[in-house]
Amino acid sequence: MTSLQHVRLGAYYVVALTRSDDFDEWRDQARRLLAADVPPDRVAWTEPGGQSGNLFSHGDRRLPPPADGVAEARVSRKFVALAKSAILHRDAERFGLLYRLVWRLRGRPALCDDAADPDVRKLEELARTVRRDIHKMRAFVRFRGIAEADGSERFVAWFEPAHHILRANAAFFVNRFTQMAWSILTPEGSLHWDGASLAEGPPARREDAPGGDPAEELWRKYYASIFNPARLKVGAMLKEMPRKYWKNMPEAALIPELVAGAQAREAAMVERGASLFEAEQAPASLAAIATGVVQCTRCPIGCNGTRAVMGEGEAASGLMIVGEQPGDVEEQEGRPFVGPAGRVLMNHLEQAGVDRAAGYVTNAVKHFKFVNRGKRRLHQSPTAKEIDICRWWLDGERSLVQPKLVLALGASAARGVLGKTVSVQKSRGEPIPQPDGSEVWITTHPSYLLRLDDAARSAEEAKFAADLAAVQRRLRQLA
Ligand code: URA
Repeated sequence: MTSLQHVRLGAYYVVALTRSDDFDEWRDQARRLLAADVPPDRVAWTEPGGQSGNLFSHGDRRLPPPADGVAEARVSRKFVALAKSAILHRDAERFGLLYRLVWRLRGRPALCDDAADPDVRKLEELARTVRRDIHKMRAFVRFRGIAEADGSERFVAWFEPAHHILRANAAFFVNRFTQMAWSILTPEGSLHWDGASLAEGPPARREDAPGGDPAEELWRKYYASIFNPARLKVGAMLKEMPRKYWKNMPEAALIPELVAGAQAREAAMVERGASLFEAEQAPASLAAIATGVVQCTRCPIGCNGTRAVMGEGEAASGLMIVGEQPGDVEEQEGRPFVGPAGRVLMNHLEQAGVDRAAGYVTNAVKHFKFVNRGKRRLHQSPTAKEIDICRWWLDGERSLVQPKLVLALGASAARGVLGKTVSVQKSRGEPIPQPDGSEVWITTHPSYLLRLDDAARSAEEAKFAADLAAVQRRLRQLA
């Protein structure tokens, strides 16, 4: 940071920043310039790799001395939040824009609320573009496993961010993939996590990252099966998943073919209700699925930074219970059905004589979808598409656990289990035979009971208890 140079060139100061993405460094320099009362049009900012020309060969290297009576700059939280994003943009003018804004903020503290101001508009646009790029990286990074010299596995991804977002995204990937060793390689630099510490490395080339692996072939097939041509809006899809990211995403290779209508064969698989995994293709173990869900960023919920919650229970069980998605408590504890809905479920299972510990309990969606409301995280239902994408994991669990009876709690679970939307009220209490010889039973979700007032609740609880009692009787017969 002290290697900064301020070079006075006639009427200009050139501030040579040492990093392109360091808000603190820019802020320190901006403070010094403000203290010296240097107006924005007298400052040129440069960054590594930027166009500094041979400016540094001229002039003296004196910093401008603090000027007397200069008001201290106070900036709003809003400005800081926007500036921290905007500084990651590739636009070479961004440092100057930010300095011009802090300069102007001294005389107009509420400037950032003026949405018509061209500088404020530019700041917001830069920040928005960067936030989108950050999201894209979270969504489109695809790791591929490679064996390390010591036999352990490292997951390596190649990514080309549009802006300087690699460091800004580091904490997300560390939190999200804490348990595994990974590297993210980009043309600007790389990040390496070994399970305990994060290291930065030099820029990389695409050839430094591994290509596809066998699991990708399966994922491609699956993606084809959930691709719904009736819902296809090519424009919207390209906006959400721009072409430039396709080359890193195994499923993207299919898109042209799918758009051309060649998906019918795969879609028929879901229509039949068949398992997505033929026995010999199933993921090798529940542990492999647990690793996979932690890494999964295939849908927006998987990209929201929450902890994935894997199923738990008997690895080979006659009963599989499927909920919708982990709730707030489950996400914090990393286990399914340990919050309020879980307590309702456990009480009812106990009353019906079903032993939870002897079954396998999981969810249709492995991440918690929510909206922030103050300090609370409020549950949001997953979309059909999100459920279908996560069915990849649910079906993997099912093909390993091989339950004779699958109990789906609520509409989302039913969609995850059956691959199509059914009415819970019309389908409950009856077995739905499956191609693999198992049967699916559907009932309401226990959190539905929690939302009802007392009168409605006791009627619904009675129906729920009756459904579980029928399941218990059937389990006894199947055993
Ligand atoms: N609701 C669910 O569907 N699953 C859980 O794990 C918790 C609440």
